[in-house]
Amino acid sequence: MSELTNEILKRRTFAIISHPDAGKTTLTEKLLLFGGAIHVAGAVKSNKIKKTATSDWMEIEKQRGISVATSVMGFNYKDYKINILDTPGHQDFAEDTYRTLTAVDSVIIVVDVAKGVELQTRKLMEVCRMRNTPVIIFVNKLDREGRDPFDILDELEQELKISVRPLSWPINIGAKFKGVYNIYENSISLFQPDKQRVTDRVEITDINDPEIDRTVGADDARKLRDDIELISGVYPEFNDDEYLQGQVAPVFFGSALNTFGVKELLDCFIRIAPSPRAIHAQERVVEPQEEKFTGFVFKIQANMDPNHRSCIAFVKICSGVFRRNSTYLHVRSGKTYRFSAPTAFMAQKKDIVDEAFPGDVIGLPDSGIFKIGDTLTEGEMLHFKGLPSFSPEMFKYIENTDPMKTKQLNKGIEQLMGEGVAQLFVNQFNNRKIIGTVGQLQFEVIQYRLLHEYGASCRWEPLHLYKACWIQSDDDEALQAFKRRKQQFMALDKDGRDVFLADSGYVLQMAQEDFPKIKFHFTSEF
Ligand code: G4P
Repeated sequence: MSELTNEILKRRTFAIISHPDAGKTTLTEKLLLFGGAIHVAGAVKSNKIKKTATSDWMEIEKQRGISVATSVMGFNYKDYKINILDTPGHQDFAEDTYRTLTAVDSVIIVVDVAKGVELQTRKLMEVCRMRNTPVIIFVNKLDREGRDPFDILDELEQELKISVRPLSWPINIGAKFKGVYNIYENSISLFQPDKQRVTDRVEITDINDPEIDRTVGADDARKLRDDIELISGVYPEFNDDEYLQGQVAPVFFGSALNTFGVKELLDCFIRIAPSPRAIHAQERVVEPQEEKFTGFVFKIQANMDPNHRSCIAFVKICSGVFRRNSTYLHVRSGKTYRFSAPTAFMAQKKDIVDEAFPGDVIGLPDSGIFKIGDTLTEGEMLHFKGLPSFSPEMFKYIENTDPMKTKQLNKGIEQLMGEGVAQLFVNQFNNRKIIGTVGQLQFEVIQYRLLHEYGASCRWEPLHLYKACWIQSDDDEALQAFKRRKQQFMALDKDGRDVFLADSGYVLQMAQEDFPKIKFHFTSEF
């Protein structure tokens, strides 16, 4: 096996996603603890954006600044190199999360046992489904009173629209929680409420082993056997391939806070989760084993310090080996660049690296050359697909309040949009600029950053829109007729594509009925 293949097979690049408060931060931290990347719990917490502080967004941005180092957390565990890509906890930054999902090979979803599937989880799962990303589910907080595990499984299947297969099973929950039976490895882990220590394990021969009765008591042992029998009757055997194709999600139970069930999750994860996979570029499929380096930018993080208006572009390596000081082609501009200070992210430290392999993420200091979705190669004209924009939820007109600073404003808007802070649409009728976001917070961030980083001031004008949809038709006449009829509501996106701005669900529905030859898309990738 070549060294490159060896490095690729060792890598597991994934993201943990959840609705705020389900336990993503806690789980991340416990995984780092196992990897020896940190030594005390509580170290990742500073990265957490408090969701209560909507008005306190300055604080949020400050924390985002800090979180550069924790945007990617790499560590070694057993023979594997694990890269966790962090996603922002605040739902107003959901676009960031969607984009990060384009750079991972698999995902762990955390669900609170008492709350079940929540809104944000559902949305994120939709993105995973679009890309057939393999998903493992961790049902958290078993130390608290929650729902019946069978009900949770049903809810996961219905709400997340994916088949599930439990690979571990709780023995009682809440105050009576005793541990989990590990279906995958045929062992029992006994629960000990402890935030720093690892659980005791009881090896058993099979589910009928009398050792189970001795350790958890006859009643719980009987209930466990009944449950396991039911599970094997209801759920088909776990099949790795179905998981890898995104058709079935294995489910684990535990308590991240008590470091319980986390090691079981991690051990199974490294065995079944995919190593870096082939990626579709517009031109062709790129295999990670190819000798030549390719990679794409999935995230740009601005430095909040106004004295250093530098950014870091996060590049996911797709194939070959990235080498420091080599010359690479920046496909969009057609120019070549040499990167002398690429950083890798190990644990919570950021260090200059000499080489990086597929699955790894490196940070490149950026003084404005990169945009989200940019491709780097050794010379080939490649464009990686799969960075869709979603219809924003909120829209406002952006107006210049200082005519002397028009240039600065336009430059600022262009760069911030390139960073993926929000989406820009230009109305085709009156040429006014419209900014679309997921939440109010982004408008505040944009206004602040335009002023502090570009010296441009702006104000927002309300615009009531329901959705932006990308339109397309095989029938050019129908398309032109639609655009004429809706001319006041037509805009261009950043790539110059036609977007219809529907001001209500009703209007959109009528448009769909009146123009059957037009296809309406709610993401920019179709
Ligand atoms: P998030 O990143 O998904 O938003 O969630 P986070 O890990 O911050 O966890 C949210 C809250 O849930 C935290 O409490 C955390 O301590 C708690 N938690 C996480 N895992 C478990 C678990 O297994 N059992 C129990 N009982 N609680 C859990 P908090 O009060 O919001 O924060 P803190 O004051 O404890 O830091």
